[in-house]
Amino acid sequence: MINYQSINNIPKIKFNNSSNMSHYNPVTIGNLLTIQKVANEVNSQAQIFLIIGVGGSFLGARAVIDALTPYFCNKKGVEIVYAGNNMSGAYLKELLVYLDTKEVYVNVISKSGSTMEPALAFRVMKGYMEQRYGETARERILVTTDAEKGILKMIAEKEGYRQFVVPSDVGGRFSVFTPVGLLPIAVAGIDIEAFVRGGRQAELDFSGDSNSAIDYACTRYALYQQGYSVEILASFEPRLNKLHEWWKQLFGESEGKEHKGLYPSTVNYSTDLHAIGQFIQDGSRIMFETLIHFEEIDEDVDIPFSLDDMDGLNYLAGRSMNDINATSKDGVALAHEEGGVPVIRIELPKLDAYHVGYLMMFFMKSCGISASFLEVNPFDQPGVEAYKKKMLELLKEDVVNVRE
Ligand code: PA5
Repeated sequence: MINYQSINNIPKIKFNNSSNMSHYNPVTIGNLLTIQKVANEVNSQAQIFLIIGVGGSFLGARAVIDALTPYFCNKKGVEIVYAGNNMSGAYLKELLVYLDTKEVYVNVISKSGSTMEPALAFRVMKGYMEQRYGETARERILVTTDAEKGILKMIAEKEGYRQFVVPSDVGGRFSVFTPVGLLPIAVAGIDIEAFVRGGRQAELDFSGDSNSAIDYACTRYALYQQGYSVEILASFEPRLNKLHEWWKQLFGESEGKEHKGLYPSTVNYSTDLHAIGQFIQDGSRIMFETLIHFEEIDEDVDIPFSLDDMDGLNYLAGRSMNDINATSKDGVALAHEEGGVPVIRIELPKLDAYHVGYLMMFFMKSCGISASFLEVNPFDQPGVEAYKKKMLELLKEDVVNVRE
C-alpha cells in the first residue's frame, strides 16, 4: 500500500512495539452518517462554509480538502473558507465583505474552547450571523468542541447550537479522523468513508513489530543522532502544500521539546527547486529529505507535438505532464543524494481519499513512535503556552494602561 524506501547505510534501531506509544490509536470515528447528513444540509443551504479554528483544529481538514479538490473553483460543494487561524484585522474585515452576498454556515472548532484566535474570530462572526440571520443564525452555526467542558461548550449549550465532539483523549493535531476533520471534509464533497477506511487500514498495517511507520521513525532518529537537524518534507504536487503544513505541525509540536527534535521544514517542487533548491543541493549539510509521491493523479495534460519545434521540446511530445513531473522527482532524489542529502521516499498508488487517509495515519503512527525515541510526550505542547502567557500579560497591561 505504501512503498517506503529508506536509506541504505542507516543502522537498524531495535524497536520494541509493545511500548504504550506505539499502540496509541488516534482514530476515533465520529458518526459518519450524522456528519454526512449535516454536510448535505450545508451543501443545500449554503454557498460558503466558514471554518473557524487554528492549529490541529483546522490544518488536518484543510490538508485533505486542498489535496482532493480542484485547484480552481470547487464545483463539487460549497466554497470552504477559514478564519481564526491568524489575528489579522484586514483578513477578518475582507472576509466579512466577501461573505455578505453569499449564504453562510459556520463551523467553529476548538477543543479547549478558549484559544484566542478562534475565540476572537467567533465573537465577530457570531455577531455577524445574528445580525444577518436573526433567530435562524443558531441553525447555521455548528460547534465542534469537548463533550463536557470549556467556554465554547457553554456558549453552544446556551445558544442551542448543534454540537460535534472532539474526543477528550485525542489532541488537535491527531484529530483529523474525528468530527474536527470529517465534517469540513464531508462538506467539501470528499468521500469520508473512503478516507476513514484508508486510515483504518493503515492503523492495522502499522501496528505490528516491523513495518514502514517504525522504519520511518527509526531512520529519522538515526539521522538525528548522526547530526542531521532538519527534515525537509517534499512533494511535486502543489495540492499537497497544506498536507505539508499539517505534517510540519504534527512533528514540530509533538517532538520539539526539552531542546530536542528535528526541525520539520517543507518544500513544494518544482517551484522551490528554483528558490531554496540551491541551498538543499549545495548549502550547509544539515538536512535530509522525505519525498512523498502519489503515482496516479486523475487530471493530466499531454505535451503536444510542434511542427516547428522552436522550443526544442519535441522529444517530450506525447508524454504527460504528470509523467514528466515524476521523472523530475527521480532526478531530484538522485541529485540531492549525490549532494549529500539523504533521501527517504514514500510512494502511494493514487491521490484519492483512501490513500490520503492512509498516509496521514502512517505519519501519526510514526510520530508517536518517533517521539518515544526522543523520550518526549508527543501529545502535549507546553512551549505553545509560553507565548500565550506573555501575550495575555501584555494584553492585560494594555487594558490597565488604557484605563489609567
Ligand atoms: O495540535 C494541537 O493540539 C494544537 O495545535 C491545537 O489544535 C490548537 O492549539 C488549537 O487548540 P483548540 O482546539 O483547543 O482551540
